[in-house]
Amino acid sequence: MVNIVKTSSVVGIKAYEVSVETDVVNSLPAMAIVGLPDTSVTEARDRVKSAIKNSGYTFPSRKIVVNLAPADLKKAGTSFDLPIAIGILIEEEVLNSEQVKDYAFIGELSLDGSIRPVPGVLPLVLGLKDAGIKNVIVPKSNAKEAALNGVVNVYGAEHLTDVVNHFTEQPITQTIIDVEKYLAEQNEINYVYDFKDVKGQRKAKRALEIAAAGGHNILMVGSPGSGKTLMAKCFASILPPLELEEALELTKIYSICGLLSADEPLMTKRPFRVVHHTASANGIIGGGSTPKPGEITLANRGVLFLDEMVEFPRQVLEVLRQPLEDGEIVISRAKHSIKYPANFMLLGAMNPCPCGFLGDKEKQCTCTDFMINRYNSKLSGPLLDRIDIQIDVPRLTPAELLASNENEEDSQTIRQRVIKARKIQIERYKNENILTNSELTSDLIKKYCPLDEKSRELLKIAIVKFQLSGRKYDRVIKLARTIADLDGSENITQLHLTQALQYKMDKETTEV
Ligand SMILES: Nc1ncnc2c1ncn2[C@@H]1O[C@H](COP(=O)(O)OP(=O)(O)O)[C@@H](O)[C@H]1O
Ligand SMILES: [Mg+2]
Repeated sequence: MVNIVKTSSVVGIKAYEVSVETDVVNSLPAMAIVGLPDTSVTEARDRVKSAIKNSGYTFPSRKIVVNLAPADLKKAGTSFDLPIAIGILIEEEVLNSEQVKDYAFIGELSLDGSIRPVPGVLPLVLGLKDAGIKNVIVPKSNAKEAALNGVVNVYGAEHLTDVVNHFTEQPITQTIIDVEKYLAEQNEINYVYDFKDVKGQRKAKRALEIAAAGGHNILMVGSPGSGKTLMAKCFASILPPLELEEALELTKIYSICGLLSADEPLMTKRPFRVVHHTASANGIIGGGSTPKPGEITLANRGVLFLDEMVEFPRQVLEVLRQPLEDGEIVISRAKHSIKYPANFMLLGAMNPCPCGFLGDKEKQCTCTDFMINRYNSKLSGPLLDRIDIQIDVPRLTPAELLASNENEEDSQTIRQRVIKARKIQIERYKNENILTNSELTSDLIKKYCPLDEKSRELLKIAIVKFQLSGRKYDRVIKLARTIADLDGSENITQLHLTQALQYKMDKETTEV
């Protein structure tokens, strides 16, 4: 008789229910796994056999056929071991189908029958939740992560015998987590770099505060030693806490990459990914034969920091354009394509020219016009268009550097203002499926960013003077919206627009 055991399989960050069908037929002892398994799945044959025998159960000495349905969905990973073993134990009448019909199983088996953790448990369980499954048995060290799903009952097992006993003798205690409470508890910040230690640089600090508040991309341009890298490191300390839905989305990504620890099942901090310019395109964008998320996906809901931005291969920078616009990346392969979220804030830093001292008050720039043009052309116009804020970061004078920093604001104070401005945005966009001003589309800009007559006049002048493209025009308004939100102002005024134009125009106007 054929029996069916449920589990799930992940594609991208979405999971689908999978039925493991097991049949034992009178033929020479063998085991076949069909239904588009990759090698990691077919290797389950040997693990399952040893695990069952070493747990004290008998393994059928006939032919076992296992089908993973739907058969057209590619299956990868070791999480099918446990459901396959359960299917065989049902054939052996250790368990019966009636007992497990409301359950799904996820887990890798060791040869001795113990259950090992697997990556991607949260998305796998969320897939089961969508399929209406009530209970799931997962590896014990993945149980907290699985429990974040909030609906499906989760039981963490350490050994195959625990799973059998759960149905016959001793039920496993359910793992329960209060996600919102957990997130709130973890939200206290404790960062190494604090804006209190950055002297002067008022304008750059203000620009970074605006970027954090509205989720805007930002590029800092300045001479070596002006504090760009230092301020970028401080940026993480003023980012607002993650909303629950953001934390769960991020957790799914880190879960698939196997980057979650058993003690910290939920991603509670915005990621701050520092990428070196020698990193491979696959590493940054994502890729490989079974496409893996890249840095832009790991930076989702947080920051991707590209220091010395012009040193990155142009082709890599150009690929960033599409995710910067759409907030996601589609990686296409011959048979299928996978979509990963990539809603990150780009933080870039660069020198103004090859020698680094163009525009410096004290040191003379030694570059020719040709060198400067070639240097700047590494960042294409369409890419710069997508960077809402571009600022000059001049070097501090020796006197400024020697001054004390006692009057500088600390990150905590700045962060409070950022959080307040974020809350206004979340409330305003609660029916729009977005969280920040930077995500506004043209239609939403019309709806949420009405301009008065005077502001429109001002923009008209700016369009002509700076030759604003349509995209740039939208971005100026979004930026003005954030500046107004930091101000606690319901309407965007001329003042907010003027400031927004300044931040947007800095690099371009200094070039002209
Ligand atoms: N505004 C500043 N306040 C305090 N220290 C600064 C400031 N600017 C630069 N420094 C000092 O100079 C060092 C180099 O700065 P860095 O951020 O690496 O410059 P950049 O990345 O612009 O070349 C920092 O580690 C810090 O010690
Ligand atoms: Mg630097």
